Amino acid sequence: MSVLLLGATSPIAEAIGHRYASQGHAIYAASRDADEAEAVASDIALRHDVEAAGGHFDALEFDRHDDFVDEVESAVGPVDVAVVAFGVMPDQKESQENFKLARRTIEVNYTGAASLCEALARRMIDRETGAIVGISSVAGDRGRQSNYFYGSAKGAFRLYLQGLRNRCFEHDVQVLCVKPGFVDTPMTFGMETAIPIVSPEDVADSVVRAQQKGKDTMYVPWFWAWIMLIIKSIPEPIFKRLSL
Ligand SMILES: NC(=O)c1ccc[n+]([C@@H]2O[C@H](COP(=O)([O-])OP(=O)(O)OC[C@H]3O[C@@H](n4cnc5c(N)ncnc54)[C@H](OP(=O)(O)O)[C@@H]3O)[C@@H](O)[C@H]2O)c1
Repeated sequence: MSVLLLGATSPIAEAIGHRYASQGHAIYAASRDADEAEAVASDIALRHDVEAAGGHFDALEFDRHDDFVDEVESAVGPVDVAVVAFGVMPDQKESQENFKLARRTIEVNYTGAASLCEALARRMIDRETGAIVGISSVAGDRGRQSNYFYGSAKGAFRLYLQGLRNRCFEHDVQVLCVKPGFVDTPMTFGMETAIPIVSPEDVADSVVRAQQKGKDTMYVPWFWAWIMLIIKSIPEPIFKRLSL
């Protein structure tokens, strides 16, 4: 079985790669920096004695996505599991001052993710097998003033995955939407929160388990399901007054 990691330099993607490789699966690590991707692949190959390769992709190079998936499949064979883990979260206030930043947030987290999922889903549907694991976020469950560009892009990606799942179901292609809370990665560096921050390895264990059980959606860690239930149930006339 072959697993494609999109955004392989993300600690979450890398940990997921190690988890699949520990089960003997071949890995293709892809990131903007081909050298970094190859380094991730070499480490995985060395530690788990599996086939692993690495290469360049960019979420914003829309015209290259189809050819990129072809390149991956000629390197490691048909992709059985694709993990869409790349993402950006620039400062919200800076994005309000400079819409270019906001636009990049939307294009990387949503448009780029949807473009790659389409290229992968088309092939998986033809083969009537495969799984797409999309990393959304709890931030996509409700818009908040502190990060609504990032949150809206992640929320759009969640809705996209829902529709894709509906399309893929009759073709035996699984679409898993992962909604992490706070994870200890460069994205959350310096963030202060009363809610526990979990390790990428803990996230990876839960994600791989959920994918292999055929799940559709998940919060990780699980307690975010309860936190978001409360946040989503606050009536809008009250919610709009909160400083969140
Ligand atoms: N950390 C959290 O608390 C948290 C919570 C909820 C959801 N998430 C989501 O989890 C995923 C992984 O994030 P992380 O926390 O591991 O963050 P991270 O360490 O910042 O990783 C983000 C990854 O996205 C890649 N990337 C950025 N722009 C790209 C582009 N244009 N094309 C291709 N790749 C691009 C980066 O690659 P480069 O090395 O090339 O920059 C990097 O590999 C993201 O989708 C994030 O939104 C994270």
